[in-house]
Amino acid sequence: MTKTILRALAGETLPTPPIWMMRQAGRYLPEYKATRAQAGDFLSLCYNPDLAAEVTLQPIRRYGFDAAILFADILLLPQALGADLWFVTGEGPRLSTVTTDPEFDKLGRGGMIHDTLSPIYETIKILRRTLPQDTTLIGFAGAPWTVATYMIAGRGTRDQGPAHALKAENRALFEKIIDRLTESTIDYLSAQVEAGAEVVKLFDSWAGSLSGEDFDRYALEPARIITQELKSRHPGLPVIAFPRQAGDKYIGFHAATGADCVAVDDSVTPEWVAEQVQPGGCVQGNLASSHMVTGGDALIAQTRRVVSALSKGPHIFNLGHGITPDANPENVQLMIDTVRAGA
Ligand code: CP3
Repeated sequence: MTKTILRALAGETLPTPPIWMMRQAGRYLPEYKATRAQAGDFLSLCYNPDLAAEVTLQPIRRYGFDAAILFADILLLPQALGADLWFVTGEGPRLSTVTTDPEFDKLGRGGMIHDTLSPIYETIKILRRTLPQDTTLIGFAGAPWTVATYMIAGRGTRDQGPAHALKAENRALFEKIIDRLTESTIDYLSAQVEAGAEVVKLFDSWAGSLSGEDFDRYALEPARIITQELKSRHPGLPVIAFPRQAGDKYIGFHAATGADCVAVDDSVTPEWVAEQVQPGGCVQGNLASSHMVTGGDALIAQTRRVVSALSKGPHIFNLGHGITPDANPENVQLMIDTVRAGA
């Protein structure tokens, strides 16, 4: 029997949508915090295959999600290309910046990333041996635009201002960065698939800050190139694209990129998604992650609404963005019970 996530990705409408959750291994879980303390810092956890596999498995054991997502981070790729990366507690990631040609010339090319990233492939191999047989393993990478926003600013930014500035002031360099990331993301995801990832997801968390032609050139086009190249290297590989906060640009994203599934955030209603996006193929989402903090009747009502609105086509239930550290683990169980009870 084929795994439910793979059936939904193949376009099947299931009586109950399969479910997993972005950031399902994370700080809202006491067992995650314990393993992270054992590893030391976050990056040491990412690069320790046994412990990274352990935290990937924790939400599967606790909740029985239909998919496991590899425990890693989108910023490991720029690190593997030669950028310095560290995490400041309570603040987030910091990177050495790439805003000039000499800084760009110091970056490596696709082939050299595997030296740094081989522990990630090892985590995937461990997971394929240890996951329950009906659980799908999802690999992932950041989309070029989102990763570029961190490389250019050297940190997370509210409005991606430094990346927009570089795009305006030195478009040639900006495009070299996007192209290098596109090429190395293909190599990275391809190695994840060779190690055993069954599906790959491309996180474009800041796609919503690109408008008009910029969206087409720097969000849609890289997603298309990455999807097409991966599918030509690995025929039949399902791809999930997540151009977060794309709004109207979610429409037609399946057809324009070849992605099997488009993940949607909660700035759009499930009824709108059913009408405008789901005709293109499987959709994933889109319960607001704040319900994992607040719980109660509102969680139940909105979960039922998402399930029911998207029940006429292929759907993978998920949040609209990652679960936050202040979430209550009991609310996650309530969401799962509500989904599995049917709308
Ligand atoms: O979904 C999963 O559970 C898989 C693992 C995963 C992580 N990050 C683990 C993580 C995935 C898929 C990501 C993606 C990621 N990382 C994105 C894109 C998706 C999104 O959420 O928009 C981005 C922008 C990053 C970069 C990043 N990593 C930031 C900005 C931060 C700091 C913010 C924070 O929550 O502290 C991280 C750290 C991070 N990545 C944590 C986890 C579990 C928290 C680290 C910790 O334990 O302290």
